[in-house]
Amino acid sequence: MVGKYVTETILADAAGIARAAQILRDGGLVAVPTETVYGLAARADSDEAVARIYEAKGRPSFNPLIVHVRDVEQARELAEFGEEASQLAAEHWPGPLTLVLPRRGKAALSGAVLAGLATVALRCPAHPVMRAVLAQGDFPLAAPSANRSGFISPTTTAHVLASLDGRIDAVLDGGPCEAGVESTIVAVRDDGRLDVLRPGPIEIGALSRDGNIEAPGQLASHYAPGKPVRLNATEVAPDDFMIGFGAITGDCTLSASGSLTEAAARLYACLHEGARSEKPRIAVAPVPNESIGIAINDRLRRAATPPD
Ligand code: TXA
Ligand code: MG
Repeated sequence: MVGKYVTETILADAAGIARAAQILRDGGLVAVPTETVYGLAARADSDEAVARIYEAKGRPSFNPLIVHVRDVEQARELAEFGEEASQLAAEHWPGPLTLVLPRRGKAALSGAVLAGLATVALRCPAHPVMRAVLAQGDFPLAAPSANRSGFISPTTTAHVLASLDGRIDAVLDGGPCEAGVESTIVAVRDDGRLDVLRPGPIEIGALSRDGNIEAPGQLASHYAPGKPVRLNATEVAPDDFMIGFGAITGDCTLSASGSLTEAAARLYACLHEGARSEKPRIAVAPVPNESIGIAINDRLRRAATPPD
């Protein structure tokens, strides 16, 4: 234990899910698996519970949180849904798409979730464990990725514990996350225009990518493994921990067959391994910048940017 809590690991069976829901109802913090990455959940209607997320992560208070809902009906209580938003939700929920929408004035949300914005980020996740937890409470869940702010995102309980052990109440173990990179974030503007704020598993190809308002949390340096990262590496130096792709094999390989889906699912596991390795540097083979490769390269660029 490194912090002030004893962090329990709870198996995500029926009894475990009920226990996690009870901890959340009481205002606690539980890391819960989603189809993208593990989220650090707290009830989104409680100032105290949400404050604990920021404290556990060391997250700057200007960075708002994604609110996870059980269905579109619950989402409609929190935000204004125009035609575009309704269509996107019908097409992609439950799933790895986050919609940034004008919040409703009477929405029962802690102010800290919104970090002062007039919009709210909503996502209806597909993972059965997260869905079961949401179904047991009558409150939505604020859930950023379950890692210390700026560090590598978690796709297993071991990754969660690597940075949050002792800082949260529990981790609900539902095995490794399938998609491996965080949800696509799309802002639906008042005039119906759509801006992709963060690339992710859902491709919104036709949308503008040059919106000048980015997600406030999309800092240049993020997902940082704590050592220098070199991208597009085709040769390995002796002190490199090599992350391979396709024909370039590494100490850890994203996908030997060149599958971008597999590479996304393994991305954070390889970065965690590189962070833990004795090698002082990480090198990463080129990853094609298409489909979910766009999200992979977005995360790699931030991992390679040194913190201020
Ligand atoms: O897949 C995911 O989205 C995961 C899982 C746990 O659901 N969550 C996640 O949360 O990635 P987090 O906190 O690591 O990233 C949320 C991003 C941040 O960059 C934040 O700035 C942005 O969403 N965001 C939240 N509310 C926003 C808003 N109202 N307007 C613009 N960006 C917002
Ligand atoms: Mg994050």
